[in-house]
Amino acid sequence: MAPGSLVAACRSLALSTWLLSFCFVHLLCLDFTVAEREEWYTAFVNITYVDPATSELRTEKTECGRYGEHSPKRDAKGMAALPVAPLDRQACDPNGRFAVPARAGAWVALVAGGNCTYEDKIRHATAQNASAVVVFNVGSSVVNETITMAHPGTGEVVAIMIPEPKGREVAALLERNVAVTMTITIGTRNLQKYVSRTSVVFVSISFIVLMIISLAWLVFYYIQRFRYANARDRNQRRLGDAAKKAISKLQVRTIRKGDQETEADFDNCAVCIEGYKANDVVRILPCRHLFHKSCVDPWLLDHRTCPMCKMNILKALGIAVSPSQNGKILTMEKEGKALIDRSIIDHKAVDTLGRG
Ligand SMILES: *[C@@H]1O[C@H](CO)[C@@H](O)[C@H](O)[C@H]1NC(C)=O
Ligand SMILES: *[C@@H]1O[C@H](CO)[C@@H](O)[C@H](O)[C@H]1NC(C)=O
Ligand SMILES: *[C@@H]1O[C@H](CO)[C@@H](O)[C@H](O)[C@H]1NC(C)=O
Ligand SMILES: *[C@@H]1O[C@H](CO)[C@@H](O)[C@H](O)[C@H]1NC(C)=O
Ligand SMILES: [Zn+2]
Ligand SMILES: [Zn+2]
Repeated sequence: MAPGSLVAACRSLALSTWLLSFCFVHLLCLDFTVAEREEWYTAFVNITYVDPATSELRTEKTECGRYGEHSPKRDAKGMAALPVAPLDRQACDPNGRFAVPARAGAWVALVAGGNCTYEDKIRHATAQNASAVVVFNVGSSVVNETITMAHPGTGEVVAIMIPEPKGREVAALLERNVAVTMTITIGTRNLQKYVSRTSVVFVSISFIVLMIISLAWLVFYYIQRFRYANARDRNQRRLGDAAKKAISKLQVRTIRKGDQETEADFDNCAVCIEGYKANDVVRILPCRHLFHKSCVDPWLLDHRTCPMCKMNILKALGIAVSPSQNGKILTMEKEGKALIDRSIIDHKAVDTLGRG
């Protein structure tokens, strides 16, 4: 791998690490700050009445109620009362009255949910001195379901919600003029941790954006790398062609018996470190260095320089390589040029040495 692409790979690794840690921090934030906590209290509801059929005292107590969000969490007790108008069981009419039993001290309003806000219902009941408001859930898809009612600004009145079956049961008794006493006592405290919808949307969107950014970056990186490799290949091919052309112009000779190259003190071929024998085919480079043809040709194709003195044969033969368009290749060629310049100096040094 070239040093350039190594640097790029390191950079990509760093970026992915950064992205990953960003996502991680994001998830932590989701867990600790965006998640909201909701506290709610259940309510025990005690219903006591005299069964009109058997004259028996009946009493039952269940933890079926749930305190409203803005209700004081305290006990309340009184006779249950419905709105007088059969069409306004929801207590949405501000002027609607409640069928409060005579001589009842404290009384509890039993109201059906729906049509108007919990706040309105509670206000209408408290305007008539109800000591507590019991709203029964209406139209819920889950049996016995209750919710935490929001009813800001209703003051010190106790407000709870009970499930629909329970509410209808008590309402049926009241409609038969049975006196029902309701006692509301505080139940258990519940903590519900939930993630709000907006934060889920926020986190999802930012996660998707991050994914897109990193994907785009990855694609960009690979395209760059591909283009770079392509340009390098093209450059390599051009240099290879030039080298072939140069090699074809270089002189070839066959060694004969008795030539000075066969003498023992003559330099060996620098590539294979063997001496020259009769019938060996040698190639003579412009710097007058000679090597076996089979030894030096592949070297020249790759390096385009003399293995001994590093002289550039393209330069020596005046073969121009068309300049590349790619900036990176240009810098590479500049480095190569520095090498060539040095080799020319070396070559001159060798020449002067030879002459001297
Ligand atoms: C409900 O309350 C009455 C007093 O109002 C009490 O006598 C009765 O025992 C209670 N019922 C239960 C089941 O706790
Ligand atoms: C809803 O409440 C309004 C008063 O706020 C009342 O006039 C209307 O009849 C109610 N509708 C139903 C369906 O109960
Ligand atoms: C509510 O109680 C006050 C006194 O505490 C009384 O003056 C008022 O008439 C009562 N209202 C109703 C609707 O009973
Ligand atoms: C609803 O509550 C009543 C008592 O309050 C209980 O008998 C009944 O089984 C409950 N129904 C469901 C579906 O939980
Ligand atoms: Zn050789
Ligand atoms: Zn040479």
